[in-house]
Amino acid sequence: MTTVHPATGLDLAGQEYQFTDTDFQTIAVLAHARYGLHLQSSKKPLVYSRLTKRLRALGLPDFESYCSLLSDAAGQDEQAHLLSALTTNVTHFFRERHHFTYLRERILPPLVRQAKQGGAARIWTSACSAGQEAYSIAAMVLDICPEAARLDIKILASDVDPQMVQHARRGSYDAEQLAAIPPEYRSLMTETPPGATDFQIRRALQSLVTFGELNLIADWPMRRRFDVIFCRNAAIYFDKDTQNRLWQRFADVLHCDGHLMIGHSERLTGPAEAHFRSAGITTYQRLPRAPGQQPAAIKD
Ligand SMILES: C[S@@+](CC[C@H](N)C(=O)[O-])C[C@H]1O[C@@H](n2cnc3c(N)ncnc32)[C@H](O)[C@@H]1O
Repeated sequence: MTTVHPATGLDLAGQEYQFTDTDFQTIAVLAHARYGLHLQSSKKPLVYSRLTKRLRALGLPDFESYCSLLSDAAGQDEQAHLLSALTTNVTHFFRERHHFTYLRERILPPLVRQAKQGGAARIWTSACSAGQEAYSIAAMVLDICPEAARLDIKILASDVDPQMVQHARRGSYDAEQLAAIPPEYRSLMTETPPGATDFQIRRALQSLVTFGELNLIADWPMRRRFDVIFCRNAAIYFDKDTQNRLWQRFADVLHCDGHLMIGHSERLTGPAEAHFRSAGITTYQRLPRAPGQQPAAIKD
């Protein structure tokens, strides 16, 4: 039999916690303002099922209390849990392999040449999750340039989720993840400490990557341009306007001829489209800037 709450009209059958439309709206507004997440009302059951675990862990009686916590100064840390619950951190080494092939064959050779002549090479993986994307890039760099650590070649890896950044920095992964690393890169990238089941990313790769927390929809601290930006499978959570602003910001912080790689179900849209040419599957190259198109805060 279906039980309906007299005040909210909510179907309570099987539901552990009361979750009103107002609670849903509070969460949707906060998730959008803080992280750019786009939660349509059709996502209400999904939000309920993803967040009940948090309510249980926190010992809260209902979603109204959870919303109060989120909005409270004491609940700032909970916002990161909210993000983790509403998005997925799923990733693996060499995901969407075509980007790594393109990187190795087309992008890195001239970049490495430039670095060997005293120039800089800057790569940013901007929603790096647990770090597999960053280490796959580092493997490509080290494979074609074993002396990379002595040159000015840097990989910045960021994510908004502090737990993911910590995991990425540790560079330790369970044995199952090894399967995604092509056999020819396994010894370059990994070692397994004696007695351990998890494997560890080698120091030589770790030293090429700098990890940090960064929210793609907040301010960015960088003042120099990048040669390559990976932003894969994160913008999918954002609404169109947020995505369009993000693509434009990437256009601003990329060198001319620099590349942007996005996820398999994402598409470059909006005004930023005019600044890129398609260079392959979900791979875009920054076109030259028109005079006067230089954002003041960014240097080449
Ligand atoms: C599915 S993972 C993608 C990982 C990797 N780029 C890949 O394609 O395999 C999505 C990541 O986006 C991050 N993310 C979501 N919103 C973000 C935001 N506003 N700023 C930065 N990262 C965000 C999540 O924390 C998560 O780690």
